[in-house]
Amino acid sequence: MSCNLSPNIEQSFKSKNKNPVNRNLTMSIHSSKHSLIIFFILIQISSPIIKVLARNSHVINFRSPNLYPESLAWDSKKQHYLVGSLHHRTISSISDAGIVETLITDTSLPENVTVLGLTVDSRNNRILAVIHALQPLPPFNALAAYDLNSGNRLFLSILPSDEPALANDVAVDSNGNAYVTNSIGNFIWKINDKGEASIFSKSRRFTEHPVDRDTPYSLFGLNGIAYVSSGGYLLVTQSNTGKIFKVDVDDGTVRHVLLNKDLTCPDGVVLRSDGVVLVVSPEINKLWLLKSNNGWGEGVVYDEIDLGDDEGCPTSVVARERDKMYVLFGYMREGILGKVERENFRIEEIKSPKESEDENIWIYVMIGFGLVYFLYWRFQMGQLVKNMNKKTN
Ligand SMILES: *[C@@H]1O[C@H](CO)[C@@H](O)[C@H](O)[C@H]1NC(C)=O
Repeated sequence: MSCNLSPNIEQSFKSKNKNPVNRNLTMSIHSSKHSLIIFFILIQISSPIIKVLARNSHVINFRSPNLYPESLAWDSKKQHYLVGSLHHRTISSISDAGIVETLITDTSLPENVTVLGLTVDSRNNRILAVIHALQPLPPFNALAAYDLNSGNRLFLSILPSDEPALANDVAVDSNGNAYVTNSIGNFIWKINDKGEASIFSKSRRFTEHPVDRDTPYSLFGLNGIAYVSSGGYLLVTQSNTGKIFKVDVDDGTVRHVLLNKDLTCPDGVVLRSDGVVLVVSPEINKLWLLKSNNGWGEGVVYDEIDLGDDEGCPTSVVARERDKMYVLFGYMREGILGKVERENFRIEEIKSPKESEDENIWIYVMIGFGLVYFLYWRFQMGQLVKNMNKKTN
């Protein structure tokens, strides 16, 4: 930013003052007046540029006939995204340029099952995928693990349940244990690194909040899940109550995270490396930024970003680098209705206007510093020329 502006400033000085000696003299005499003018010019020039920078975010459009991906993962080693599919039994990679590559095709899975939640277990170099058969297909709920390099399946673990179940999203802890949400049964399965599954947390906390039966998502209980390694717990969203729970990975005890407001149909959840928790709603097209200063005993929603009002159905969010946020628009609702064909899907970088404002202040501070250095340099040059003039005279 400031690098691009400084040559222009110099240029304007050069064109105004043709005589070099004269220029330096006026500069040192009127430097304070100039600095004020330059500062206002800088503010005038930079504010629209900053606004444009904040608005122009990265959009990755990709094409794959009827892929309808529900979840998104980021493979930081290979620097690409991973997405599942509503009916294709595939996991595909998406590059920053939108190049789609099918990494895994598992035809040993029952026909037409959905690849729902995905997570990269980078320690064990594998990808974990939740497999669910939507109605009217025969019931099927499983967690599959595939090698990230070869794409070979490492295990397929059937998730036990006596009642109707909907295995939805997955998170992995630092020991390679996976945790899968059951949206209908409102409990969490645990699958260890060998693929042995059990029911892990079936707390009464999960069912004590009222559910509005009139909403289209009233059947979706526990949904998104994220692991917080610094504290050894999971954060889990519950779509039909708008609640978030904190689940201890050692003993499965559950606490309701007190928030300053209820969320509407929270789905995907992810932890950003700076500790901010991102939650996305496919129902009202929103991304929430949440903060906590006591390890998620309570939290505050400090930003709510509108994701637009199209049919994109943003179900999943990932965090990249320090504070980048990317949301998947996989058009799942349209895919489930199955009335049309679709080829275009997208992953979109989302910027928080609030956080950009904070950044803007830093840009001004940096421009200010740059200006001080610049004026100091001009001053010294002026002195130098003055001394040289003295000598030549
Ligand atoms: C899977 O979907 C295809 C295309 O919609 C359909 O023809 C086929 O019968 C389905 N298979 C099962 C087992 O439902």
